[in-house]
Amino acid sequence: MPVVVDQDTETLALLLKAVPSGGHGIEFFDRLEPWLANRPEEYVVVLGPHVDIADALSMSNGMRLSRPATSVVLVREDVDAMVLREAMQAGVRDVVQSGDPDAITDAVERAYQLYVALRGPGGAIHSGRIVTVFSPKGGVGKTTMAVNLALALTDRGARKVCLVDLDLAFGDVAITLQLFPSHSIEHAIGSEDSLDGPMLDSLLTRHPDSLMVLAAPSHPDVLDRVTGALVSRVLRQLREQFDFIVVDTAPAFDDQTLTALDETDECVIVATLDVPTLKNVKVALETLEALNIAPGHRHLLLNRADDQVGLGPEKVETILGMPVAALIPTSLDIAAATNAGTPILAANPGHVSSAALRNLAGRLTGEPAAPVAAADRRVAGDERGARRFRKRR
Ligand SMILES: Nc1ncnc2c1ncn2[C@@H]1O[C@H](COP(=O)(O)OP(=O)(O)OP(=O)(O)O)[C@@H](O)[C@H]1O
Ligand SMILES: [Mg+2]
Repeated sequence: MPVVVDQDTETLALLLKAVPSGGHGIEFFDRLEPWLANRPEEYVVVLGPHVDIADALSMSNGMRLSRPATSVVLVREDVDAMVLREAMQAGVRDVVQSGDPDAITDAVERAYQLYVALRGPGGAIHSGRIVTVFSPKGGVGKTTMAVNLALALTDRGARKVCLVDLDLAFGDVAITLQLFPSHSIEHAIGSEDSLDGPMLDSLLTRHPDSLMVLAAPSHPDVLDRVTGALVSRVLRQLREQFDFIVVDTAPAFDDQTLTALDETDECVIVATLDVPTLKNVKVALETLEALNIAPGHRHLLLNRADDQVGLGPEKVETILGMPVAALIPTSLDIAAATNAGTPILAANPGHVSSAALRNLAGRLTGEPAAPVAAADRRVAGDERGARRFRKRR
């Protein structure tokens, strides 16, 4: 629905009359940005004649690239060549005179047509990618990796990322990020057919590092009521609102995890260097293959990759029949950062693990894949060497 901004209440009322019913009026320009932030479906912003021209142009210029499907219609008392030129350069779609309500109606209609055209026939203007972090084994570092990967994907606020805790019985994403959510997926129970953007927004918790979190229920007893259908609805809705949705999972192929995997575009499988884990990861990979989940988009993350246990990354690649996409060494820094509530990527961006996770995030966003594994192998080896060196001393 259109959003209309003007600090003069009378003008605002007149402008609202010129747009389709249901339009939203905002008196204060600085409230516009937060309003738009969670409304990817907004197709037009009408900036009234009392909105400062510099503010209007600057906002339009930003939206030109960040949300090209949302048109800006500028309403002015006087439209002269200078205003037209500046507006055009800032990507304003229409400039209309304030005394001409029909022109405003037409401009809004044109904005809607453009929006529909950009959405495409299916109506999916925005389809974020779902990244599921999975392992059939508990305690291998799924949550640690999911949290850090989500932070890496935000690229310091450049991308909208939501982290979903689907470890419904014992989820610890919130505590890992030192968040105290008032709502969780539990509050969406029963909304399989009715969940919409605003409702889902109200269930999310904001993390200071440009990350939104959908927390797990506070008690495991509601687990069975979070149905596969609800998980699917939640993820599809989140796709419309975020660029990336990172899903942390329980170590099992339960109904909810399978649903998430079904929706998954990129699957990160976490393994460690121990035979029981590798055996189970192999079975899990066969299951993913049999279910045709994320073919060609599975990424093996080897956590604690430098543990001296008689198995190395090359052996793991042979056993699992797939290349390692990221190697994360065992590091007290990782555990300490988690315990302090600031994941390693935020606490120490220069850390070897932070670099490896950013590299993996780069692969997921489609950046050209560098010979990641080779570089990481060397780094992991360096750590190992350093540790050996310290031991010798
Ligand atoms: N590379 C690492 N170096 C040191 N500690 C690590 C590393 N990766 C994870 N840890 C620590 O291991 C513990 C388990 O990690 P995490 O909770 O992420 O595993 P998980 O697979 O999510 O477990 P669960 O299956 O119980 O959900 C945490 O204390 C975490 O800080
Ligand atoms: Mg976990």
